[in-house]
Amino acid sequence: MSKPLSPRESEIKARGVPRHVGMIMDGNGRWAKARGLPRLSGHREGAKSVRAVIRTARRLGCEALTLYAFSAQNWERPMEEVEGLMGLLRDYLIKEGQELLETDIRLHAAGDLDRLPEKVLAPLRVLCEKTAGCGSMTLTLCLSYGGREELVHMARRLVEDVQHGDLESSSIDEHALAERLWTGSLPELDLIIRTSGEQRISNFLLWSSAYSELVFVPTLWPDFREEAFLDAIEEYQRRERRFGRATSRGGVAGASQ
Ligand code: FPP
Repeated sequence: MSKPLSPRESEIKARGVPRHVGMIMDGNGRWAKARGLPRLSGHREGAKSVRAVIRTARRLGCEALTLYAFSAQNWERPMEEVEGLMGLLRDYLIKEGQELLETDIRLHAAGDLDRLPEKVLAPLRVLCEKTAGCGSMTLTLCLSYGGREELVHMARRLVEDVQHGDLESSSIDEHALAERLWTGSLPELDLIIRTSGEQRISNFLLWSSAYSELVFVPTLWPDFREEAFLDAIEEYQRRERRFGRATSRGGVAGASQ
């Protein structure tokens, strides 16, 4: 079961936490290289950060956490690394299922899932079904995922629905597009955190990130644990979100959005 909130977490929670956090988990390879270890050791250590961040987000009361676990472009990595990552994902799905259920976390997957090997797809489907009724937080694993690929998928669905007479082209609006995304059922994406010092979106949640706050931290993903996550949430809490409107700190928001 989840541990109680620490005093620091209680203060952060009281200030208001982001409803939906997206994580670009970067730097596993560099973490391993710095230690003379194979890249897979970095990914294995990174899986421990995955657990830490899920538990912390759940304790803080975030409604949704979306993890960029394997991109559409990651298939181009050496076969050995892809197989290693698929093995880690399978282990995670098999070992962590009980904790997700006990902590009332719904598992969701986003991406071109048909490309995943059966050894990942089978436990993924089982766990998504088992946790479908959980309501404390939605954990989305982006697997074989790309933001552009998601937009292509959405466009295809839109055209099919118009062709089948399920949607009038005159009623196509933001909502009609958003609900056809792989991530369409999730709340507004408030915050994206990227580790490892890189300052890019790298094809992550292109539609949903329109007004997300971006926090880039130098920490490599395997070193990104509870305290680093709390630091990033505090950084988010210092930001003023305007969505293109006037600033609440006085004056009118200029060219910045
Ligand atoms: C990017 O670091 C990370 C990935 C491509 C994989 C992320 C996978 C995990 C954190 C572990 C398994 C996930 C789950 C959900 C259990 P990189 O390899 O590109 O690092 P580098 O830029 O330093 O080479």
